[in-house]
Amino acid sequence: ALLGIDVGTSGVKVVLFDEAGQPLAGALRDYPLYQPAPGFTEQQPEEWWAATVAAIRHVMAASGVRPEDVAAVGFSGQMHGLVLLDGQGQVIRPAILWNDQRTKAQADWIAAHVGVERSIAWTANPPLPNFTATKLLWVREHEPDHYQRIAHVLLPKDYIRFRLTGELACDVSDASGTLFFDVAARRWSDEMLQALGVPAAWLPPVHESHEVVGRVSPEAAAATGLATSTLVVAGAGDQAAGAVGNGIVEPGAVSATIGTSGVVFAFTDTILKDPLGRLHTFCHAVPGAWHVMGVTQAAGGSMQWLRNQLGQLETAAAGLLGIDAYELLTQEAAQAPAGSEGLLFLPYLNGERTPHLNPAAKGVFFGLTSRHQRAHLIRSVMEGVAYSLQDCLALIEGLGIPVGEIRASGGGARSPLWRSILANVFGRAVTTIHANEGPAFGAALLAGVGAGIYPSVQEACRRFVRTVGAVEPDPQAVAVYAAYGEIYRSLYQALQGEFR
Ligand code: XUL
Repeated sequence: ALLGIDVGTSGVKVVLFDEAGQPLAGALRDYPLYQPAPGFTEQQPEEWWAATVAAIRHVMAASGVRPEDVAAVGFSGQMHGLVLLDGQGQVIRPAILWNDQRTKAQADWIAAHVGVERSIAWTANPPLPNFTATKLLWVREHEPDHYQRIAHVLLPKDYIRFRLTGELACDVSDASGTLFFDVAARRWSDEMLQALGVPAAWLPPVHESHEVVGRVSPEAAAATGLATSTLVVAGAGDQAAGAVGNGIVEPGAVSATIGTSGVVFAFTDTILKDPLGRLHTFCHAVPGAWHVMGVTQAAGGSMQWLRNQLGQLETAAAGLLGIDAYELLTQEAAQAPAGSEGLLFLPYLNGERTPHLNPAAKGVFFGLTSRHQRAHLIRSVMEGVAYSLQDCLALIEGLGIPVGEIRASGGGARSPLWRSILANVFGRAVTTIHANEGPAFGAALLAGVGAGIYPSVQEACRRFVRTVGAVEPDPQAVAVYAAYGEIYRSLYQALQGEFR
């Protein structure tokens, strides 16, 4: 059997699979998100570990699989987060997460002192507040006592692997989101580390995602119930691991994921960069391959906001009847026609990454009239997210990357209405895949390659990833969305100066 561990932002998901890719047992354990000041997001690495231990114990008990029969463990993780350890391996301060907004000044400082062009030349990406380097510079400026004690810098899933094996390690896909990494050469960037004055010795050895990094340590075996014979592979950032789980491992394969954030992800077999840095260019979890991705900060997050503001009744009903509040809301949205009769929503509730790279961008409802009902409001939010993902897709196509059908995934893609909106906004067929385990599935496939059970990541995907539920675009709706999409795009241009 193979164990996939996804160290996410709201919680950890652990799933045990058999070697034919079938889930045997799974568990989710949440942990708190701390917001000690506006725009700050932090978590306690110890709480990730405690949740992971509890989830592994649950899965092992529920599956009845003998510990010695777990061949390997693979990881997926929330990317970019800063974990600092001292010389004894103790955590110095809470982790500063990917969606923390405090480091705009540090990103600006890198842009001014290193330069955006050099940043793109060395690391394939421009300095953005989401990237780990800006978080480390923030600690240097604001918490010199903490900075002094640093011996190791890790990413979230890599801390969990450190607890599981005692090994310090990272993988190429997650390292790509630090701004310390030479994405073209798949190694740490001496140039960037020197320019920022960060010791290279703080960073762990980097592996390809399927490579074996160690085995479960005796202490961790005692804590989790796993066996010390079980191999542990490097794993990947959640986007790359999710892409493996979706089979996005060959040219032409593109996915659109609606989680809290939204991501359009394309496989590339050479390194391709958007000259303005609006897409991230990262190593893929497949050796010799890369990927580009555009990120919408608030995708599912926009629907969550709407549910919290307008969906009190649905939320209460969902609690009582055991149904999904989002399902009730999207059923209502289906009563409004494509295009929401002119009501448009810009989903920039948490600023925006692709295509605007503007943390100050704001959400907008435009075109409200007394005709509009709740159904229009809900539908326009789903459509606004789709336009934003279309902006990402257009940049990807602009790089000359072949795009076939789009594979939708994430919580939002479970809605057939949202999938059909995506198909009509993209003007392309949208499919989804049979499995529901998300990045944990990709993590387990990587573990299987590391353990020698599957010959390659591509071959594992060919064997076990099946697409289902194709939605074809409807020409009439495509035309409606093309017209409103133009207005959507002109709104940002018109309002840009007012966002601060
Ligand atoms: C990717 C990104 C998010 C996090 C959240 O660049 O910021 O997908 O990895 O899980």
